[in-house]
Amino acid sequence: MAKLKQKDFLKETIKHIDIKKHNVVKLVDDMADMAYTSRDLNRAANIYNSMLKEKDCCVFLTIAGSLVSAGLKKVLVDMIQNNMVDAIISNGANIVDQDFFEALGYKHYKGDQHFADDNLLRDLHIDRIYDTYINEDELKVCDESVHKICNMLEPRPYSSREFIYEMGKWLEKQKKGKDSIIYNAYKKGVPIFVPAFSDCSAGFGFVAHQTENPVHHVSIDSAKDFLELTKIKMAAKESGLMMFCGGVPKNFVQDTVVAAEILGADIPMHKYAVQITVADVRDGALSGSTLKEASSWGKVSTSQEQMVYSEATLAIPLIIGYGYHKKSWKNRKAHNYQKFLQEEDRKAKTAKTKKCSCC
Ligand SMILES: NC(=O)c1ccc[n+]([C@@H]2O[C@H](COP(=O)([O-])OP(=O)(O)OC[C@H]3O[C@@H](n4cnc5c(N)ncnc54)[C@H](O)[C@@H]3O)[C@@H](O)[C@H]2O)c1
Repeated sequence: MAKLKQKDFLKETIKHIDIKKHNVVKLVDDMADMAYTSRDLNRAANIYNSMLKEKDCCVFLTIAGSLVSAGLKKVLVDMIQNNMVDAIISNGANIVDQDFFEALGYKHYKGDQHFADDNLLRDLHIDRIYDTYINEDELKVCDESVHKICNMLEPRPYSSREFIYEMGKWLEKQKKGKDSIIYNAYKKGVPIFVPAFSDCSAGFGFVAHQTENPVHHVSIDSAKDFLELTKIKMAAKESGLMMFCGGVPKNFVQDTVVAAEILGADIPMHKYAVQITVADVRDGALSGSTLKEASSWGKVSTSQEQMVYSEATLAIPLIIGYGYHKKSWKNRKAHNYQKFLQEEDRKAKTAKTKKCSCC
């Protein structure tokens, strides 16, 4: 038998589902009279629609797992373009390894979880995510591109939000990634936070940059991320959480209520909350902890919350598709929290300069 090559495995690409093409409203409405997860999903879809109906409610979207590589990129881009989300908190995998990676012109490929010979894949530089394949050599270009962006920036600490904004600017200059989450969020003023920014392809770029520049270098200030996210919550007052999977992004956004309290602000808990996950509650860990449990910590209100126990690629097109086809987003404006945070930075810098000139 002829020796298999990389191109024999990287043939069929993952295609991103287009919620605009499938009106799921009647389907999801009818699920209200069913049982189990279908009824939970119907309730979650209606809670999301309530967030969109309330014009001043800030919709926070949290993302973990590997959803962009799974064909959900366009759902997220449609949310950004149609004012269906105001701020995004994600793991690094979705934003850098997957979205930025595709923005560079690369693809994810259909693979096989049952018959994959992982040793052969290793030899052929193919990485596997369940039933999806990635060309590892292309992923290295992704690390290297982050390295280049680091080298171009003024050496100082950045929030991940600031750094990802620079990635959007870089893509625009390179004329790349017009269908990416990073580029569309950059254009629309939707801030993206990645609280564990080095725990993905970006980390390799940062390691290279900081090794070459041991004293003056670009770094990520995770505390600044938290402060910025808290400032959004304080400015918005009412808020809703759409949480995909769980992980660090879920806790990070929930904790803004507590952080605001510490800053002396009197703000409400997150009013709406939906989580889609397969995580189990029994281990006492974060991802599976229910939203009712979060209310005992004073983070989430219990009036409009719903856990949906489902693999995310099934539930997201239905819940977000429902929100899209109900059209409540048509009455919402873009909140542009990117601009708000840039203005906050400018004010902080001016205050610092004034303080310095008199001492
Ligand atoms: N996700 C990846 O494959 C990947 C790849 C490279 C790096 N990383 C890094 O590893 C760290 C942890 O990854 P994480 O944030 O994904 O956390 P995680 O792997 O712990 O996942 C969080 C929770 O989401 C649930 N979940 C994940 N995918 C789901 C799906 N499709 N449907 C329903 N529930 C799902 C999991 O069961 C888990 O309980 C991050 O910093 C990330 O950047 C992750």
